[in-house]
Amino acid sequence: MALLELVDIEFNYSDKELYQKASLKINPGEHCCLVGINGSGKTTLLNLIVGELRPDKGKVMWEPHVTYAYLDQQLKVEQDMPAIEYLYGVYSELFAMEKEMERLYASAASGEGDYERILDKAMKLGDKLQEKGFYSLQEKVGRLTDGLGFDKSDLERPLRQLSSGQREKAYLAKMLLEEKDVLIMDEPTNFLDAFQVEWLASYLSNYPKAFLVVSHDEAFLRKIAKVVFCLENKTVTRYKGDFESYLAQHALDLEQYRKNYEAQQRYIKREEDFIARHIVRATSARAAKSRRARLAHLEVLAEPGKEGGKVFFSFPFTHDVGEKPLLVEELEIGYTFPLLSPISFLLKKGEKIAILGQNGVGKTTFLKTILGKIPSLGGSYKWLEGIQVNYFDQDERIDLDMTPFEYVHSFYPELDNTKIRTVLGAVGVRKELSMRKMRELSGGEVTKARFAVMTLRKSNFLVLDEPTNHLDQKAKDALFDAIERYPGGVIIVSHEKDFYDGLVDYELNF
Ligand SMILES: Nc1ncnc2c1ncn2[C@@H]1O[C@H](COP(=O)(O)OP(=O)(O)OP(=O)(O)O)[C@@H](O)[C@H]1O
Ligand SMILES: [Mg+2]
Repeated sequence: MALLELVDIEFNYSDKELYQKASLKINPGEHCCLVGINGSGKTTLLNLIVGELRPDKGKVMWEPHVTYAYLDQQLKVEQDMPAIEYLYGVYSELFAMEKEMERLYASAASGEGDYERILDKAMKLGDKLQEKGFYSLQEKVGRLTDGLGFDKSDLERPLRQLSSGQREKAYLAKMLLEEKDVLIMDEPTNFLDAFQVEWLASYLSNYPKAFLVVSHDEAFLRKIAKVVFCLENKTVTRYKGDFESYLAQHALDLEQYRKNYEAQQRYIKREEDFIARHIVRATSARAAKSRRARLAHLEVLAEPGKEGGKVFFSFPFTHDVGEKPLLVEELEIGYTFPLLSPISFLLKKGEKIAILGQNGVGKTTFLKTILGKIPSLGGSYKWLEGIQVNYFDQDERIDLDMTPFEYVHSFYPELDNTKIRTVLGAVGVRKELSMRKMRELSGGEVTKARFAVMTLRKSNFLVLDEPTNHLDQKAKDALFDAIERYPGGVIIVSHEKDFYDGLVDYELNF
C-alpha cells in the first residue's frame, strides 16, 4: 500500500484552475521529486498534501500512522529558544528517559526500597537508550550542523537572532533529525551554498525513508531523484528512474504530445472548414450542425511549449568607464571579527566572475561590503568613478501585501501604467498576476517581479546574489542570456555551477 495517494485532484484559485484530475502516489522509501514551471502549482500541491489546503475535488489519502514533516510548517516554532536546544528537542523523550534512569540509580544508591528491582529497571532504561542511539546523539547532531555550515556560536543563539538563511537551515536540520516516514520539502536548496547542497544531496540519497522534494535545481535533482513527478498542463505524470532518464522519457513524451496536438489541430481545421461550407446549405446544414456540436465537446490540447508564456530579461547598459572598474585590496569583511582572510583582486573591464567559498555567510557579506552597505574591517575597495551597480539582493525584504505593479511603481513612480505592465509582462508576470498581492503569487512569480525592477535600472555593473533561486529552467535560460549579452562587469554568487559555468571568465575562491 502506498504511503500517500492523491486521486483525481482538482483545485482552483478564484481565477485559475491548477489541476485536472491530478494523481500521485508515493510508496515506502521512494525518493521522489516534483518538477514543473513557475506557477504550475507545485507549492499548492504540497499544501494540499499536508492538509493546509483542501482540494475542490478528488482525494488526498495518507496511510494511517504514516508520519511526515513539511519544511514550511516549522514557522510556528518558539523563537526565543537557542538553536541547539531546538534541535535536541527532537529527542525530548530520550532525555526524559535518561532523567528517569538517573533518578532510579540515585534511589538505588540511597538504599531505599527494593535495590535489585530498581537497579534492574534503571539498567533496562540504559539499554533502551543505548538501543535508540542516545549515546551517539551528539555526534549525530554535530554531523548535521557541520554539514549545514553552523558554527558553535550560531547554535547557542536564540533562533530569532539567526539570519533568515540560518534559521531555515535550523528548521531543515530538525526535520532531518526527526526521521519521519516522508519528508516534504519545497525548494530546500534556495538558502544553501554549493557545499551544503552537496551535503544535503548525499544525506537525502542515503535517507532510508521516503521524500518528496520540489526543486528547480537540476544538478541537485540529478543527485537525489529516483522517481520524478512532472506537473505540466494541469496533470501529474510519474516517471520512474533518475532525473536523466526522466529528461529522456519526457522529451519523447513531448514529441508525441506535439504530434497529437498537430493532428488534432488539423482535424479541427478540417471540421471547421466543413462546417463553414455546409452550415448554410439546406441539404447539409444538419450534418454541419452535428459536427459543430461534436467539435464543441472536444477536449482541445494546449499548445506545447506555450505554458507559462515567454520570459525575457535585459539589463540596460549605460557606458564604459575605464579599464579597471573594481580594485579590492586586502579587504577584511565581517561584523565584529573578519570572516575570511583578507581579499585582494582586480576586475578588468567587461570581466564576469563567480565568487565561491566555503563559508555560508562570507559571500553575501563581501558583496554588501563592496556596495557600501556594511563597513569593512580593514583594507580597501575602489570602484572607478562613474560605476553604477545594478544589485540583486538575496536578502531583499519585500512587502508581500504589494502587487507587482505597485512594487515596480514604488521604484519608478514616473512610469505610466502601460509601461509598467509591459515591463512585468516581458519577465513573465502576466497582467492578471501583476494586480494580485505578492503573497498570492508563487515563489518564481515574485522573483520575476523583482527582476522587472532590475530591467529598468540603468547600470554598467551587475552584482547578483543567488539570482537563480525560485526561477524555473526557462527563466534561468533567459537570465543567462541577459547576463551573457551584458557588456559591463558582473559578479555572481550562485550555488548553481550549471548556471555560472560558461558565463563567467573565472571563479574567485574565498
Ligand atoms: N493565495 C492565492 N490566491 C490566488 N492565486 C494563487 C494563490 N497562491 C498561489 N496562486 C497562484 O497559483 C499558481 C500556482 O502557485 P504555486 O505557488 O503552487 O506554484 P509553484 O509551482 O510552486 O511555482 P514556483 O515554481 O514559482 O514556486 C500561481 O500562478 C499563483 O499565482
Ligand atoms: Mg513554489
